[in-house]
Amino acid sequence: MVNMPVRRRASESTATPSTIRPFLKWAGGKRQLLPQLARFHPQRFGAYCEPFLGSGALFFDLHDRGQLEGRRIILIDNNPDLIGCWLAVRGETERVIRGLRRLETAHRSDPRVCYYRVRDERFNPARRRLRASGARWGEQYTPALAAMLIYLNRTGFNGLFRLNAAGGFNVPVGRYANPRICDADNLRVVSAALSRPGVEVREDRFESVCEWAMPGDFIYFDPPYAPVSATASFTAYTPGGFSSDDQCRLQQVVIELARRGCHVLLSNSTAPEVTALYAENVVARAAGLRAHRVSARRAINSRGAARGAVDEYLISNIPPRS
Ligand SMILES: C[S@@+](CC[C@H](N)C(=O)[O-])C[C@H]1O[C@@H](n2cnc3c(N)ncnc32)[C@H](O)[C@@H]1O
Repeated sequence: MVNMPVRRRASESTATPSTIRPFLKWAGGKRQLLPQLARFHPQRFGAYCEPFLGSGALFFDLHDRGQLEGRRIILIDNNPDLIGCWLAVRGETERVIRGLRRLETAHRSDPRVCYYRVRDERFNPARRRLRASGARWGEQYTPALAAMLIYLNRTGFNGLFRLNAAGGFNVPVGRYANPRICDADNLRVVSAALSRPGVEVREDRFESVCEWAMPGDFIYFDPPYAPVSATASFTAYTPGGFSSDDQCRLQQVVIELARRGCHVLLSNSTAPEVTALYAENVVARAAGLRAHRVSARRAINSRGAARGAVDEYLISNIPPRS
């Protein structure tokens, strides 16, 4: 068989197998914070888990550094669309790429018309049918839906994923001169990384990690941040948001896993409730948790003027490298 040269399209990247990037933009994505997070990577660990997966910035960074070779990896999020998309990219890569290429061509001819047609006439109706099919409907996501989600994510306002009260995706079109819609090389590298033995991608709640985490496992929690002010919150990744009760339940899980001997790392805002749950909490401190303030650049905020460097917490029982 003759290997034909691959013709690269203008909009495709030159990703090589050694560079892998998130294939979605996600509110609260952690690409800016990766150098700070790297100070907390444990020297040795067992399984790796991200229970608030989003676009999986730390998973991809660890993979790129070769630190996940041969390990069990569990990637969890409770957003069915997100997990459905990850699963389709893993298992139906070429069909997702073909769908994205068709969308890219249509988008180039009339971006605004194409965006709203896809969102309102195809994506939302197909999601509605799937949601009516019962629990864990994300696992039945089709390659066409995954391609549409990636397309809407690359071309919609700020890459947001926002649902209205009826559960419909309602993000308006973004303003991009030439958005990269189909990064086929990266999607193939992502699929290969996710197809390795031991990698699980699951629609679940963060608490499920307690059912199987073992001493020595590394667990990175990146929940929707506690709001620093009444107007600063962006927690509507899924209907219901992430409440103060959720933050309290998360603290219990983090303490439980630290006591169990897992390596835990949590990012969160410096809201007073987070300070109270970790930095000033004797039970958290007795479990070995320390709250470190770091400076980070926020990519998505409800007020444009509030963008820029802000302090965040990295909370961990792993001593940071300087
Ligand atoms: C800040 S984002 C994670 C960003 C991610 N670290 C990245 O780099 O893109 C938080 C994620 O938590 C998910 N989430 C919210 N509540 C959850 C819950 N109760 N259990 C599991 N995941 C949840 C949201 O769907 C969202 O994808």
